[in-house]
Amino acid sequence: PGRYSQLVDTQKGLVRREIFVDEEVFRDELRQIFGRCWLYLAHESQVPAKGDYVNVFMGTESVLVCMGRDGKIRAFLNSCRHRGNRVCRADRGNASTFVCPYHGWSYDLAGKLVGVPGAKELYHGDLDRSQWGLAPVAQVASYKGLIFGTFDPEAPPLEEYLGDMRWGLDLLLDQGDLVAVPGTIRWSMACNWKLAADNGAGDTYHALWTHRSAVLAGHPEGDGVTNDELAIGKHRGFTMVTGYGHGYNADWLAENVDMGSPLAAWRRNPDVQRKLGPFRQNVHRANQNVFPNLFVNTGSRDLMVRNPISPTKTETWRTILVDKNADPEIQRMQIRASNRHFGPGGMFEQDDGENFEQCTSAASGAFSQAYPLHYGMGLGHGQVVNDGNSPPRIDSVMNEHAQLWMYRAWAEFMDAPSWKHLRQEHSRPEGVL
Ligand code: FES
Ligand code: FE
Repeated sequence: PGRYSQLVDTQKGLVRREIFVDEEVFRDELRQIFGRCWLYLAHESQVPAKGDYVNVFMGTESVLVCMGRDGKIRAFLNSCRHRGNRVCRADRGNASTFVCPYHGWSYDLAGKLVGVPGAKELYHGDLDRSQWGLAPVAQVASYKGLIFGTFDPEAPPLEEYLGDMRWGLDLLLDQGDLVAVPGTIRWSMACNWKLAADNGAGDTYHALWTHRSAVLAGHPEGDGVTNDELAIGKHRGFTMVTGYGHGYNADWLAENVDMGSPLAAWRRNPDVQRKLGPFRQNVHRANQNVFPNLFVNTGSRDLMVRNPISPTKTETWRTILVDKNADPEIQRMQIRASNRHFGPGGMFEQDDGENFEQCTSAASGAFSQAYPLHYGMGLGHGQVVNDGNSPPRIDSVMNEHAQLWMYRAWAEFMDAPSWKHLRQEHSRPEGVL
């Protein structure tokens, strides 16, 4: 086994703590994971017209996502080829060209170098502009409005990368005609990005305890759902683990759901019901992680990218989706409910962030690193169900299979010499996990 596979013991469900604080691990992640996986960039509704752009991050790299004159969405590094300066400082906007603030090189919407001050007089016509465009993100593709990009030309197509996770993402993306609410909310936490990611991939367990006070205070509210969040054994749902480390827990709708609530209006839409089908219609909400760092909550309609800044610093970029055909008052209700839930002022987010920071801090001690973390809840009891109602699933919501599978995939990406190797390694779950 490679170096990183030794830090994740999938038989015993153990994960070594140094992977959350070590500088060398972090540098390898930027190349092996953020340089290789499909990463979420933006929602198509954020770049609807020619010349529209948003400025985002892929790992630690600043990237421009832009709709060209030809209507095609491209992404390229926001770094001038002359001295590397950022050619665009704005978060979003509409442009015809990007002019570098340092010496004035300019690039068109396809990243092509189109203007060089003094091209004739100073460069003597020697500079071949066709060779000095902005570095393109190797592949850009969309899934139901979500734009992803990968730096790796050898990465499999997006559809294949998402695989069975698409069935889970549809729990959100088929709820209506979703668009991004303008304004990305950002905040940073003194934590490793993986602790936030694994929580999203499958930690229903913590909700009973961490979010107890928020739930007792009456939150979440407003979506017509009154699941008993506080009782062990009362949660009913399922867990999905998929290839390449994506995963989630999903809760079934409780029996006492108020389907007449305004925020449950989408559930009554026959078109939505048809798209989701009889099995998925009964999902209350799912917390998901698209590996490596896109958190999705299908209830509050949140998309949160956990951007790595350093081993011990993570900046979250959060976008809320609403149904553009919903009544404006319902849209406002949904945004309010979502903001009470997640984001820097959200009751759940504040609970979670404190935990992620303390776990990170405790991982940095030379003494504490001798003690690996336990990700083994339910290990050996996760019967994989393959009944045709869904991709392979486990009919329990309270376990750590999705989290452990995320670390399994993490170790495989970290050790794999190339995508070819990874494509052989990954498979659907079967038997008992
Ligand atoms: Fe961009 Fe010199 S760094 S023009
Ligand atoms: Fe939480």
